[in-house]
Formats: sequence, C-alpha cells, structure tokens
Amino acid sequence: MAFICLLWADEHLNAWRQLSSVIRTGQPSFENIYQSSFFDYLNSKPEKLRDYHKAMHEYAIDDYRDIFIHLDLRSTKAILDVGGGFGALIGNIANAHKDLKCGLFDLPEVIAQVQRDDVYLHSGTFFNKLPEGYDTIVMSRIIHDWDDHKSGRILNNVHEALPPRGVLFLIENLTDRITNRASGLTLNMLAMCRSFERTESEYLMLLEQNGFGEFQIKPLNSIQYIIQCHKL
Ligand SMILES: C[S@@+](CC[C@H](N)C(=O)[O-])C[C@H]1O[C@@H](n2cnc3c(N)ncnc32)[C@H](O)[C@@H]1O
Repeated sequence: MAFICLLWADEHLNAWRQLSSVIRTGQPSFENIYQSSFFDYLNSKPEKLRDYHKAMHEYAIDDYRDIFIHLDLRSTKAILDVGGGFGALIGNIANAHKDLKCGLFDLPEVIAQVQRDDVYLHSGTFFNKLPEGYDTIVMSRIIHDWDDHKSGRILNNVHEALPPRGVLFLIENLTDRITNRASGLTLNMLAMCRSFERTESEYLMLLEQNGFGEFQIKPLNSIQYIIQCHKL
C-alpha cells in the first residue's frame, strides 16, 4: 500500500481539494496548482515518477495476473505493450507464452528505470512514430488519460505501426457497463489529466475514426474491459 498511499495523499489530494472548481469550469485543478500537465510534472521529478510507477505496478500485478487467459493471442507472433509502465502486463504474457516476441514501450524516463530481460524495451512518446515489427499492440489505461484529440493522435500512431489486419487490445473502464458509472474515476481524470472515462460507444467511435473495426468486447475484471479490434 505504501506507494499507493504516496500517490493519493499528495498531488491527487491537492487536486481533489479544488474539485468544486473542476466541476464548475471543466478545467483540471492539477494544472492550475502545478502549472504543468500531470505526466510532464512526473517526468520532471524522478522520485515522483518512480513512486507513481511503483503504485501503478502494484495495481497492475493484481489486475493483469491472468491477462494471458483473457487475450486471444492464437494468431499473434509479436506483441507490444504501449504505455506499459514497469511491464507487469507484458511480463505476464512473456512468462505464459515463451514463443512470443514481447515488447514494452514507454517514455524514456520510465524505461530507464525498468529492469527486465524477458521483453524488448523501447522508449519514446506515443505522440510520435511507434516501433514496428509487432502484429499486436496492447494498451491498458492509456486512452482514458487523454482527451479525444490526443487519443486520436495516439490511435493513429498505433494504426501506422501495425501491419494490415494487425490486432489492437484496448483495456479500459467502460462507464456504461459499471454499476456506479465510474463517476469518481471520471472526476479524477478530469481533475488530474483533462480527460475522462468513456462509455463503450465513445471508445468504439474513437477507434472507428482511426481505422479500427471488427470489435469484440469482454470483461477483464469488475471494471476493466478488453476491446479487441483489427486494423482495417
Ligand atoms: C495510467 S498509466 C498505465 C500503465 C499501465 N499500462 C497499466 O495499465 O498499469 C499510463 C502510462 O502511460 C505512460 N505515458 C504517458 N505519456 C506517455 C507518452 N507520451 N508516451 C508513452 N507513454 C506515455 C506513462 O508513463 C504510464 O506508464
């Protein structure tokens, strides 16, 4: 719990203290307080970056424990986890499928802190060209961090990197399938990241607009869903 407490008890708490202004104006209180976007802030502070990713990693160890059972990888030869943090998800896949080529992509500041030899490491930003040579890409808890415009740029780069008929697994909370509609999570994304949790149809529209189709959706756990689709 230590890193999760550190994550919630400092910047998140400060941002939530200004929740009434977030609700009134629709503007992220984080940027108001710290004069920076959340990820730029983390990337400029190595200790904060490490603590954030350790917290994310703790969540990820639980959330992705059985990921290799849920993803249909029968036609996959090489899979890249884009924005995969310290690699909990892709590490579980590499461990379960020794014959697959597995890659982890994240910001240089993050990849510099990753110590794994079970996956290929790639660094960069998903707002630029992504590594090629992977027929499948997985992105979990990425698109919910960004507004529609920036999400479109990320999905466009994913589309470019995949070969024809390449597969994308998007893992996100689908607000219309969750009993409480994830309202607290949506407020958090708005306060911290200028973004929001989305409904199934909002995700499908974003994906369709960026050249993906043939959707299949299934639950990963009580709030996260896997949207599987193909590059058309
Ligand atoms: C909410 S975390 C999700 C991490 C992991 N996929 C998971 O589900 O636990 C968002 C991830 O996106 C990465 N990220 C943020 N901006 C990025 C960028 N411009 N390019 C690549 N990765 C980025 C962060 O470093 C972080 O690992």
